[in-house]
Amino acid sequence: MTPPHCHASAFVLVWASAWLLCGADVGDFAPCLQVFHRSWPPKGLAGTPICQRYNNQHRFATLYSRARRSPWFSAYLYTTPAGRRPSASWKFEPQLAYPGADGNMIPFPPHPVDQNVVDSQAVQLDYINSTFTRGHLNPSLHHQSREDRSATFTLTNAVPQKPGSNDGPWEVLEQTVNKTLAAYCLGEAYIVTGIIPYHSGERWLKNRVAVPEYMWSAYCCPDYNASLPEELRDTFPTYAAVGRNDRNSTEEIVPVSKVAKKQFRGYDVRRMPLETLETYLKERFGSVVSVFYEQCSES
Ligand SMILES: *[C@@H]1O[C@H](CO)[C@@H](O)[C@H](O)[C@H]1NC(C)=O
Ligand SMILES: *[C@@H]1O[C@H](CO)[C@@H](O)[C@H](O)[C@H]1NC(C)=O
Ligand SMILES: *[C@@H]1O[C@H](CO)[C@@H](O)[C@H](O)[C@H]1NC(C)=O
Ligand SMILES: *[C@@H]1O[C@H](CO)[C@@H](O)[C@H](O)[C@H]1NC(C)=O
Repeated sequence: MTPPHCHASAFVLVWASAWLLCGADVGDFAPCLQVFHRSWPPKGLAGTPICQRYNNQHRFATLYSRARRSPWFSAYLYTTPAGRRPSASWKFEPQLAYPGADGNMIPFPPHPVDQNVVDSQAVQLDYINSTFTRGHLNPSLHHQSREDRSATFTLTNAVPQKPGSNDGPWEVLEQTVNKTLAAYCLGEAYIVTGIIPYHSGERWLKNRVAVPEYMWSAYCCPDYNASLPEELRDTFPTYAAVGRNDRNSTEEIVPVSKVAKKQFRGYDVRRMPLETLETYLKERFGSVVSVFYEQCSES
């Protein structure tokens, strides 16, 4: 019953607790390494790994911050979507609240959740009457199956995102990546989407959930159609972007377009090579951050 990928430290414990550790899917990316290019999770960021499990299958991976009650990044395999966005219910992760809990995410009940859940993660109430939306890192529109889409609706995969970003330039980015990968990626497409915190003076939603200053995303598609149109020449095998989540941010990382529609003004997304993104991540996190194994090299 113990899957062979359970981490070695589990085996020094008695059978029952070893099973629980592995069952919880928290603390180790081993059960879901297949969502990372070359089974290599991004390096340089510290947090709590979660293998996101829904209906008993691992769907994607999240590096979660308990202190921020929000994710550093989510990593997933892109699959060409078909059909409409589901009206899925938002879920939480019982295993963050109870070490022995089942590893499957479960929908929020209609009644208030208990204090252990409230302490360990963001809950529905945090977002009610706020000026932020629940911004998916791993978006439902990058998935084919209904269940993979539904699994993205967990608050450990969401950050407080301004509507001007979520319904504007950031959504356009998600759609552009969808179209580009659907048209020119021939094999697997690995995507990692994360956040950049404020340099100083963290902002909090309801004094509980950390608000990111920027969101970033990068894909890696090692096997692609080499007959790329001119405008996509630099976008394979890997490409990245950073999006503003605060109108008032300075413009060094992402300049502001003066011609954007009023409700989207100040929430621009800037496309850039992976290397440029990693330079900004290094600056802000104060450590070398590597998103993909060997920068998604083709060999
Ligand atoms: C949200 O705002 C409405 C209108 O001001 C108020 O009636 C409601 O109680 C608020 N809900 C929460 C959960 O704060
Ligand atoms: C994603 O790309 C597929 C394939 O091109 C397309 O059929 C679908 O409409 C796109 N979805 C969105 C939301 O853009
Ligand atoms: C690659 O793209 C070209 C031009 O867009 C197209 O004609 C060709 O069929 C594609 N090849 C593959 C293997 O998809
Ligand atoms: C942006 O700055 C203006 C003026 O200083 C201030 O009123 C507003 O609250 C700020 N907005 C955010 C999201 O911090």
